[in-house]
Amino acid sequence: MLPIGLAVVGAGYWGPNLLRNFAASPEFDVRWLCDLDAARARRVLGRYSTIGVTTDLAEVLADPAVRAVAVATPASTHLPVALAVLRAGRHVLVEKPLASTYAEGCELVAEAEHRDLVLMCDHTFCYTPAVLRIRELVHAGELGDVHYLDSVRINLGLVQRDIDVVWDLAPHDLSIVDFVLPGGAHPVAVAAHGADPIGAGHSCVAYLTLRLTGGAIAHVHVNWLSPTKVRTTIIGGSKRTLVWDDLNPTQRIAVYDRGVDLAAPEELDEEARTAARISYRTGDMVAPALAEREALGAVVAEFAAAIRTGRPPLTDGHAGLRVLQMLEAASRSLADNGRLVELEVSG
Ligand SMILES: NC(=O)c1ccc[n+]([C@@H]2O[C@H](COP(=O)([O-])OP(=O)(O)OC[C@H]3O[C@@H](n4cnc5c(N)ncnc54)[C@H](O)[C@@H]3O)[C@@H](O)[C@H]2O)c1
Repeated sequence: MLPIGLAVVGAGYWGPNLLRNFAASPEFDVRWLCDLDAARARRVLGRYSTIGVTTDLAEVLADPAVRAVAVATPASTHLPVALAVLRAGRHVLVEKPLASTYAEGCELVAEAEHRDLVLMCDHTFCYTPAVLRIRELVHAGELGDVHYLDSVRINLGLVQRDIDVVWDLAPHDLSIVDFVLPGGAHPVAVAAHGADPIGAGHSCVAYLTLRLTGGAIAHVHVNWLSPTKVRTTIIGGSKRTLVWDDLNPTQRIAVYDRGVDLAAPEELDEEARTAARISYRTGDMVAPALAEREALGAVVAEFAAAIRTGRPPLTDGHAGLRVLQMLEAASRSLADNGRLVELEVSG
C-alpha cells in the first residue's frame, strides 16, 4: 500500500514531535512542514531534508499528493486551519484541545462527518502503554465499580499567555478520564477553583471536581507553579485500587488489592446494624509489565488505521468535544466561585 501523503502545520514546541513520529512511520510520506514562521520550520527540518517548507496552508492543500494534515498550531487557530483542511477533502489530526470552544469543535465534527473524513484529536496520553492498560483493567472490571479518580499534574510549567492552566494541562487529565471510564460512566457536573498568585492574568493553579454517574467522583489538580513535578493518578474501585505514577518508569502502574469495605446492612443482625461495620482488605500489590514506547508512535498508527479502514479513531472528534464540554464547564465554574456546573449529555 502506498504511504499516505501528509503535511504538518505548526513547527513550534509540539509540531516537531509529530513530525518526527510521522517521518518514522512507513505509513506516511511527510511532504510539507507549514508554519507562519518559515525560518523556524527550516530550523526544525535541518539542511538536508527533502520536506517542503511553506508559510501558506493553501500551498499544502494545492498538492494533490497530500491526503492528510496534522495540526499543531495554538488552539485558537484550530478551527480555521482544520476547517480549511477538511473543506479541501483531507483527513485531519488536531492537537488537544480540539478547538478553543465547544461550538467550534462542533463545527469541525460536523464538517468531517458531512465529508466522511477522519477527524482525530491528539489526546496523546490515551496512547501511552500505561493508559491503554488502565483502560483495559477498568473495562474488564478488575477494579470493580469505579468509586473515585484522583489526578495530579503539577510542575514548574510554561506560563501560557493566552490560556489558563486548566485549558493548558487539564485536557490531558480530562481526556484520560473520558478514555478509561467504562461505557455508561461519565462526568455529569464540574466544579473548579483556581488561583493566580503571580498576577499572570489567569489561573496558574486549579482544582477541578467532577461528579460522575453513579455517585463516583474525580478530582484533577493542575499547577504551573510547583517546584517539583508530580504526575500521579489514583483510581479507586470496589475491588481494587490502581496507582499510576508516570514518573516511575520501573513501576508506572501498581494495582492494590487493598481497601476499605463496609458490610452491607442486610448482612448484619439487628445489633450490629446500629454500628457501621468497616473492614480493611490488605491483599497483594501487582505491578503489570508495560512496554516502553513513545505514545505519539501509537497516535500516528491509529490515524493511519482510521484513514485506511474508515473506522473512527479511538480519540475521535466526539472525544475532543466531550473534553471541550468539561473545559468550558470548568471555566464557567471558575468565573462563578466554584459553582457546580452541570454537563449536557453530548454525542
Ligand atoms: N499533545 C500534547 O501533549 C501537547 C503538548 C504541547 C502542546 N500541545 C498542543 O499543540 C498545539 C501547539 O502548541 P505549541 O506549544 O507547539 O505552540 P507553539 O506556540 O510553540 O507553536 C505553534 C506554532 O504554530 C505556528 N502557527 C500559528 N498559527 C499558524 C497558522 N495559521 N498556520 C501555520 N502555522 C501557524 C506558530 O508560528 C508556531 O510556530 C496546541 O494545541 C497545544 O495544546 C499538545
